[in-house]
Amino acid sequence: MRVAVFSTKPYDRQFLDSANTSAHHQLVYLEPRLTVETTALARDVSAVCAFVNDSLSAEVLEPLARQGVCLVALRCTGFNNVDLVAARKLGITVARVPEYSPHAVAEHAVTLVLALNRRIHRAYARVREGNFALEGLLGFDMKSRTVGVVGTGRIGATFARILAGFGCTILAVDPAPDPACIAAGVRYVDLPDLLEASDIVSLHCPLTPGTRHLIDAAALARMRPGAMLINTSRGAVIDTPAVIAALKDGRLGHLGLDVYEEEADLFFEDLSDKVIQDDVFARLLSFPNVLVTGHQAFFTADALQGIARTTIANITGFERDGRAVHEISVEKLA
Ligand code: NAI
Repeated sequence: MRVAVFSTKPYDRQFLDSANTSAHHQLVYLEPRLTVETTALARDVSAVCAFVNDSLSAEVLEPLARQGVCLVALRCTGFNNVDLVAARKLGITVARVPEYSPHAVAEHAVTLVLALNRRIHRAYARVREGNFALEGLLGFDMKSRTVGVVGTGRIGATFARILAGFGCTILAVDPAPDPACIAAGVRYVDLPDLLEASDIVSLHCPLTPGTRHLIDAAALARMRPGAMLINTSRGAVIDTPAVIAALKDGRLGHLGLDVYEEEADLFFEDLSDKVIQDDVFARLLSFPNVLVTGHQAFFTADALQGIARTTIANITGFERDGRAVHEISVEKLA
């Protein structure tokens, strides 16, 4: 099958090529993001392969369908960037990678927790300057802290297991509680109770209409003074201006982000010689108790290998019998 691969980076090419050695799909690597302006690049292909910040809105899907595209193979888990209703109307199948390495993302979330707690980002810079003073680096023991996990799917459950290993008490919110988590001692509560009781809150739910700005001013007001908030799910699960207000008045003690609502114009590119135009993002970077990574939680060799294998399997399945292995149904939108 001939596939236009949007938002290609050298590492995508490396892992996809290696997963494609026996399938022999024709992968056409394109660096630009998929947007209304770039749909024309998907010429003479029957599938597009897209990533987290590619747009698959109705405006993008319509010209793709006219050009003969009948499969969208997402090389990610989240599918908030796809208009599934429009895809169904246009007869485009949408497939994703439901699972690769939940450890990659969960371990990155733990990394943010530990780095913020022990101020590793500040210590690193200080020591390199010959400053070995400890003022401002005071942390806390993880043991016996209460950690709130919002969404105990594959990633959230893995995160919960790791934190339980530190001796933390784990609370969780999920409309579909996981019996294995309950058996491991996780206690399911409602969101207000989780926010009020947790020293650390980590977000692992998908972005849906119901979770957009789940962490808004009212939710932040419920959190413990000085608590830590971690978001490795999708940027829009938190209301960033409300989070900035909570950081400014000191109510929120630490913030760790791997995702940002407006990340599409920033992340995955080297903008080090440019002036950042996004004032909200620039304000976030100014806080000493904020640690931001640029959507790198998934970025391990194990995860990239898993993503590439499943993406190629989705394309092969669709080519062989018209069904991708991991198709997304429109019902998933609810
Ligand atoms: P999953 O589908 O296994 O789990 C999501 C869980 O969230 C489910 O158990 C679901 O019931 C729960 N949920 C849904 N609505 C909720 C709500 N309102 N409150 C609490 N829980 C709710 O997904 P998985 O694999 O664990 O991924 C979670 C999210 O992590 C993805 O949707 C994606 O947005 C994000 N992600 C981020 C990556 C990164 O590199 N930063 C990489 C991969 C995923």
